[in-house]
Amino acid sequence: KNSTHQKLIEMHEHAKSFFHHILVNTEVGKDAMTYLEQRGISREYIDEFELGFAPDNRDILLKVMQKEFKDGLFDESGLFVERDDGTFMDRFFNRVMFPIKDAKGKTIGFSGRQMPTDQPDKDKKQPKYLNSPETEIFNKREVIYNFHLARPHIRKTNEVYLFEGFMDVMASYMSGVKNAVATMGTSLTEQQIHRLERVCEDVTICYDGDSAGINATNRAIELLTNNTAIGVQVVSLPNKLDPDDYRMTYGTDALENELLHHKKTVFQFKRVYLMQDFNLANESDVLAYLELVLKELAMIPSVIEKDFALTQLSEEFNLSKETLQLQLNQLIQD
Ligand code: CTP
Ligand code: MN
Ligand code: MN
Ligand code: MN
Ligand code: MN
Repeated sequence: KNSTHQKLIEMHEHAKSFFHHILVNTEVGKDAMTYLEQRGISREYIDEFELGFAPDNRDILLKVMQKEFKDGLFDESGLFVERDDGTFMDRFFNRVMFPIKDAKGKTIGFSGRQMPTDQPDKDKKQPKYLNSPETEIFNKREVIYNFHLARPHIRKTNEVYLFEGFMDVMASYMSGVKNAVATMGTSLTEQQIHRLERVCEDVTICYDGDSAGINATNRAIELLTNNTAIGVQVVSLPNKLDPDDYRMTYGTDALENELLHHKKTVFQFKRVYLMQDFNLANESDVLAYLELVLKELAMIPSVIEKDFALTQLSEEFNLSKETLQLQLNQLIQD
């Protein structure tokens, strides 16, 4: 790779080490350390993920970098923002820093989480997570958070778990499910799924249990099934919890159990997903719902899964399985 590329990576590696040092070794990092402790992240994982803290100061990183990199690429790095007078200031301040790494483990960007105590006035509302902008080395549509640490585990299990957030990836990892990755706060892209496709045959989607997460799950399923031969399964968490909330509420063993032993097929996920739009106390809604569900079922190649689903629907809606089968056959022919 060219020298600009190298230099930008060196700058990010240096910034990562600096933020990590501030967090774990200094008084300035103490509140952030306490915050992470309260969120159940032990020192072991702070070190493994190389979490850091950007102090509440707009030129501390700038000074460090000016000293270290005489001809630094301050503009191109994305680590700074330019003032009107052309001088630079730190982009990240008073945030817990998650280094974002490439497949080799080199830092190419950051996401900084707001401290819980940071409640800016409504006019200047800051995002909960602030990400690096697109740079020569950081492309949000390509990068997969934690791919570097997860890859050997993905290969070994032939499967990857896909999460919404950094904390969810860490929660999974801490519960022993280490084949865990996330996208960068955006929806899954084709570039990302093609990278995943090269290392495994199965994806388990475990997005947040809120409606945004459920809708994102549906979109991810579409993208995966339309573009790849990857097998897709879904873990749906209850009560609008995300995987990290789930771990904090029920413990790491409970999260591990959900991730490993409570996977739904795409059809079972859709069956529940489609219910949202209907009031199943109305007979006409039941009919419309069943019509949609059978349409989904018609697209499932597995004969066994079809049979299983028909038995389930027949019991749930008190209809004969033969009737459902007839209707399904019609849809398959169309
Ligand atoms: N995200 C973002 N910008 C925001 C909010 C979210 O980039 N303003 C991204 C982050 O990658 C985040 C993910 O979207 O991890 C999921 O968002 P959300 O569920 O709201 O956050 P959590 O990961 O649950 O964050 P936390 O547990 O720290 O509150
Ligand atoms: Mn360390
Ligand atoms: Mn969410
Ligand atoms: Mn969440
Ligand atoms: Mn969360």
